[in-house]
Amino acid sequence: MYEHDITLTVNGATEELTVESRTLLVHALRDGLDYTGPNVGCESGKCGVCTVHLDGEAVKSCTLLAVQADGGEVTTVEGLAGEKGGTAGVDDPADALHPIQRAFHEEHGLQCGYCTPGMVMTAAQVLEENPDPSREAIRASLKGNICRCTGYHNVVNAVESAADSLRNLDAPTGGR
Ligand code: FES
Ligand code: FES
Repeated sequence: MYEHDITLTVNGATEELTVESRTLLVHALRDGLDYTGPNVGCESGKCGVCTVHLDGEAVKSCTLLAVQADGGEVTTVEGLAGEKGGTAGVDDPADALHPIQRAFHEEHGLQCGYCTPGMVMTAAQVLEENPDPSREAIRASLKGNICRCTGYHNVVNAVESAADSLRNLDAPTGGR
């Protein structure tokens, strides 16, 4: 059994850990570092519940070995609230929700919630690349994220609503 010392930056924190050659990134995050936001489902790249950002790209963290991410910057759903708009309107950063998380809450874009971290992380990348997507584009972009509960309608509503919120954050205020 080969082991490797690797370093990841997770949600801005430097994390050092030892992993086996076969350890998947999702298991390194969950079991090695206690970032339990990314869930484990199919472990074969089909369901999307394990989605995180690696060096700014949404990736299914069950499709990568932890050693492949060595030196990389990872954002999990736990770290998303610290990004754009996450602390808007809250006094305590612990209460912060990213506008996408807030939209899933307000639009009832979840039931059991198992798929939600992956949905949110995928949506974050989608809205970064296309701030004003059509409903069809949202549906297409989430095709790699499976939900067993919601029927997707409210998920699409949530992403649409989050897109509005993020565009408003970016809009010039016009005042002094
Ligand atoms: S657990 Fe990673 S895609 Fe299903
Ligand atoms: S809310 Fe249950 S799997 Fe999506």
